Amino acid sequence: MTVDQLNQNGQLRHLITLADLSRQDIERIIDRAHHYSTPIGQPPPRDTILKGHTVANLFFEASTRTRASFELAAKRLSADVLNLDVNMSSRAKGESLLDTIYTLQAMQVDIFVVRDASTGVPMRIADHVLPHVSVLNAGESDASHPTQGLLDLMTIQRHKGDVGNICVAIVGDIKHSRVARSATEALTKFDVGELRLVGPQELLPEDTMPGTQVYSDLDKGIRDADVIMALRIQKERFAQLGEIPDPQEYFRRFGLTEERIGVAKPDAIIMHPGPMNRGVEIDGALADGSRSVIQEQVTNGLAIRMAVLAIVHEHVLATRGAQS
Ligand code: CP
Repeated sequence: MTVDQLNQNGQLRHLITLADLSRQDIERIIDRAHHYSTPIGQPPPRDTILKGHTVANLFFEASTRTRASFELAAKRLSADVLNLDVNMSSRAKGESLLDTIYTLQAMQVDIFVVRDASTGVPMRIADHVLPHVSVLNAGESDASHPTQGLLDLMTIQRHKGDVGNICVAIVGDIKHSRVARSATEALTKFDVGELRLVGPQELLPEDTMPGTQVYSDLDKGIRDADVIMALRIQKERFAQLGEIPDPQEYFRRFGLTEERIGVAKPDAIIMHPGPMNRGVEIDGALADGSRSVIQEQVTNGLAIRMAVLAIVHEHVLATRGAQS
């Protein structure tokens, strides 16, 4: 890290990774997210605290959930929101990333939400913005997806309470997954009972993730698990197209079905960060079944993004005036 995520008063300024946040920092975000949670069917929560603030969503990689939820989160907090159409922006004419940031900063953007396929981009932006400006990582290559890690932890806690006595199995393309990395960072900070990374040998991480156990056998990896999280095969991150597993063969070996999860605890919950490839990493009936909390993850994601925006706005508010 070249830029601290917390400012000199200990307030969250940037959210780039969960790795160097404390358990208390994470608890504060999740507590705030509970404040912004209302059941589906009720009017969505609203707040005016970001009135007069501007949030820019810069998605240099595809997204449905993260992009839509950051946009709705900022609007429900009364911010001015800019969703830059990256393909129609002057980056297509050769403008650099930082010149794009400086241009938007000159239009008084306070909070940048950034997704990029390259490692280090959110931190690079954080390193160059004005002191009052915040940068939020909305998905960085295979390295980090901190708001996903937070929403996954929040969802697990809502169903299982304290994670200290439970077994979580993350199944699939662990090697290319920023979701697995951020979930691991979040769960290990909360002393998860057992955390298993399960997948074919070639899709397991080359480096060891502290606090995890690795399984290349699905039945052993999910046996007695309380939580099973399926991951998509991240085709876009393979160096060689020929290395991408055959979907039918993959489903036969590692696809989650009602039958295959019979070895897990009877009250095990099924998670998936989305987007799903039904019939590859998960059977549609399981994804839509009574044990699935996949749609709840989406709902919690919006609450988490409202919470993060609300918390970093305290830094913007405290620092913005001090510069003039
Ligand atoms: N889980 C997730 O990041 O989904 P999107 O790619 O649709 O944002």
